[in-house]
Amino acid sequence: MSLNIRNFSIIAHIDHGKSTLADRLLEFCHLIKGEHQNQILDAMDLERERGITIKAKAVRLNYTAENGTDYQLNIIDTPGHVDFTYEVSRSLAACEGCLLIVDASQGVEAQTLSHFELARQHNLKIIPIINKIDLKLADVPKTQHQIERILKISEKPILISAKQNIGTKDVVDAIIQRIPPPSGDAKKPLKALVFDSHYDPFRGVIVYIRIFDGEISLNSRVLFCSTQEKYVVEEVGFFQLKMQRTGKLTPGEVGYVILGIKDIHKIKIGDTLTDVENPTLAAHIGYKEVKPFVFCGLYPVNPGDYGNLTKAIGKLHLEDSSFFYQPETSTALGFGYRCGFLGLLHMDIVKERLQREFDLNLIITVPNVRYKIEYSRKDKEGIIEVENPSKFPQRQFIKKIFEPYIMATVVSPAQYLGNIMSLCENKRANFLDMTYITEDKVKLIYEMPLAEVIIDFYDALKSVSSGYASFDYEIYDYKESEVVKLDILVNNETIDAFSFVVHKDKAVTYGRKLVEKLRGLIPRQLFEIPIQAAVFGKVIARDNIRSLRKDVIAKCYGGDITRKRKLLEKQKEGKRKMKQLGNVSIPQEAFIALLKLE
Ligand code: GTP
Repeated sequence: MSLNIRNFSIIAHIDHGKSTLADRLLEFCHLIKGEHQNQILDAMDLERERGITIKAKAVRLNYTAENGTDYQLNIIDTPGHVDFTYEVSRSLAACEGCLLIVDASQGVEAQTLSHFELARQHNLKIIPIINKIDLKLADVPKTQHQIERILKISEKPILISAKQNIGTKDVVDAIIQRIPPPSGDAKKPLKALVFDSHYDPFRGVIVYIRIFDGEISLNSRVLFCSTQEKYVVEEVGFFQLKMQRTGKLTPGEVGYVILGIKDIHKIKIGDTLTDVENPTLAAHIGYKEVKPFVFCGLYPVNPGDYGNLTKAIGKLHLEDSSFFYQPETSTALGFGYRCGFLGLLHMDIVKERLQREFDLNLIITVPNVRYKIEYSRKDKEGIIEVENPSKFPQRQFIKKIFEPYIMATVVSPAQYLGNIMSLCENKRANFLDMTYITEDKVKLIYEMPLAEVIIDFYDALKSVSSGYASFDYEIYDYKESEVVKLDILVNNETIDAFSFVVHKDKAVTYGRKLVEKLRGLIPRQLFEIPIQAAVFGKVIARDNIRSLRKDVIAKCYGGDITRKRKLLEKQKEGKRKMKQLGNVSIPQEAFIALLKLE
């Protein structure tokens, strides 16, 4: 037993104050001084700017209690956003307890519920905390009531203001008194959980581990249970903002090892690290391959930047193993990549990092999900997975299409119930359950196609609920669906980058909208340009961009009708030729504007 170690996470709905409390704890334990940059755990620029925590971090704090006992507190920060649920789950597996923060002005929200549920599944000691009690809008009794009633936690929450440093000591006392110390046996074979990793350009992959049994020390030979790959430990240590070397890590401790691995994809979060000579028979818990769910095409605005994009994506991929990419070509946009992400936020982050850190100007195509298509052709039949709409098989070969569904939880004040229900219905959601979690707050459960969520669901939900509803989801199944591929044709040519998949009932509305939008975006030319929307080759909407008419008979004054006719005939013939040869150039803005869709 490592009596003086406490391993804990902080969990909360987004923006409820997790990183701010972490800062206070770091100050309280003298790791940082008062005048530092706020939210020290959010190191990445982008994280700081958006105020979100992207990667889980682990920091060791040393604290001497009033009775003189020294404690080692390992705080494992978790990302708050739904795209990163798996990381939250792995971080929680490395802890014995967690601090559950609820904002006193917002109360229990959708992610409070899902994180709480995860913590319970991991059998963690949960310490309820109400934050932001300094706010005018804070309603402590109501929040307390919600915690008691919804989460069924009878323990009295600790009241704090992380911003004003109120209640920090109470939190530290609770960590020591209420969270159990880790158990583990140093004599048993090594069993360490890999709960995170990051890529360092100089050192290679830094593997974050939590030791359950045994010890890991410098130069020992270790083995990953899932891949059976063997390495020698080049460095072992723990994090105290910077990496601190030590000789070894013992049961209950949290830290890192460097194994000389240059490719982050060799590390599987959730894997177990053990001894080569004396491997553990009880690998921790199975790891999960994180799978991308949202896909889009990424193309450089300037085709000459393709080489740079290739380098940039490669580099970023070294740091983030959860996104996927492969080269693709589009007749409209040239060379680019099809990329897969854990969710919309993840997509946004990768896109922004590419633009910012590598100075690239990019076009992204409409995001889509991965479809499973059952097909049957003369020679072959089977199921294929398609993540690029322009790669859909022809209609006659398609037997069935399946799309990913999510289980969505929406928590909202009851007054917006009507609006939210009609929004969800409009998004093809099936209502499953509704509970009043308090007198004026409801929890709704829906199953809903992921494709409907990735376009604009968050924004729509916020706008129909004046910003009060919160949302969380988990992917749970593929279901058969009546979706169709919608193509856009400009001057009778399919523009592949505009193709997307939509439910058949919405195809006509979307098709019309797109055609209309494009009509305003493509400049008029000397010939008429038809713009069409087609579902599997059948035109469902059409509009024309009228030609610019050159007045060829302006110079003929008076009489001679035959000469005028001749000139007009010549013009008509010329236009016909131009149209055939016509290569409509679509301005870049058209792509960008169109891809914003709604
Ligand atoms: P994510 O990392 O994005 O999940 O957010 P978070 O939960 O870490 O929240 P963060 O600590 O970034 O705080 C969100 C916002 O709330 C920031 O603007 C903080 O300054 C503010 N905030 C945090 N704690 C308090 C508090 O006790 N009182 C007040 N008034 N504001 C607070």
